[in-house]
Amino acid sequence: MEKMPFHESDEIRDVHAVMIAAATEVTSTDWRRKLPVLTGSLATLRELRLSDAPALLAMLSTEEVARFISPPPTTIEGFERFIAWAHRERATGGYVCFAVVPHGMDTAVGIFQVRQLEPGFSTAEWGFAIGSAFWGTGVFVDAAKLVVDFTFDVIGTHRLEARAAIANGRGNGALRKIGATQEGVLRKSFLRDGEYLDQTLWTILEDDWRRSRTPGATRVH
Ligand SMILES: CC(C)(COP(=O)(O)OP(=O)(O)OC[C@H]1O[C@@H](n2cnc3c(N)ncnc32)[C@H](O)[C@@H]1OP(=O)(O)O)[C@@H](O)C(=O)NCCC(=O)NCCS
Repeated sequence: MEKMPFHESDEIRDVHAVMIAAATEVTSTDWRRKLPVLTGSLATLRELRLSDAPALLAMLSTEEVARFISPPPTTIEGFERFIAWAHRERATGGYVCFAVVPHGMDTAVGIFQVRQLEPGFSTAEWGFAIGSAFWGTGVFVDAAKLVVDFTFDVIGTHRLEARAAIANGRGNGALRKIGATQEGVLRKSFLRDGEYLDQTLWTILEDDWRRSRTPGATRVH
């Protein structure tokens, strides 16, 4: 999550390229046009809506959520710009951001982002944040499984990376729990509040994920 964009620096895009990409890839890669709705046992994942901005501001801008991630926007307008940016990036085919909506609710309580690390999305990085009222409820695991399935099955990624500051106990615990493998430490790789933090690099390989999905295999404990 730490490296995932909560910024707008990539905003200036070639509009024509976006339109052409959206128009020509529709049949093979519909997700570039609009994300599908993914339904889990506790929550639904769907495209972000501009109307999610107030709820996301309330959920993600608290100190405990934002502590180890790139600083989220601090206003509703800032979240609206982020959501508009996420839609444009998705249309280019290099990024997706799902809103997490627990069953029985209409608004988002968190997000899952996945971005390609190279053209073609063969390797990717994911990041996530959920409002603290929903921590420990099972919503994370439920949503994470849907996102990882989508990344391997639909986008076609074969290696999914995540970075978590070593000091981020819940972030590391969540990645361990979902079955990610700890590959190493990225020393002083994340600047937060004027301090460079070490991060753990966690990965999930498509083959391992598929094996763990087979009946009888243990994945999430
Ligand atoms: C990361 C996040 C989405 C995970 O959701 P969550 O609901 O808290 O996750 P869960 O409770 O299902 O899993 C976290 C695990 O870490 C464990 N954990 C909590 N604090 C821990 C700590 N200090 N050290 C080690 N493990 C810890 C929990 O016990 C839990 O494991 P368990 O269910 O086996 O007991 C959520 O905590 C969040 O939004 N955090 C803020 C944003 C963030 O840091 N994002 C991740 C960046 S990599």
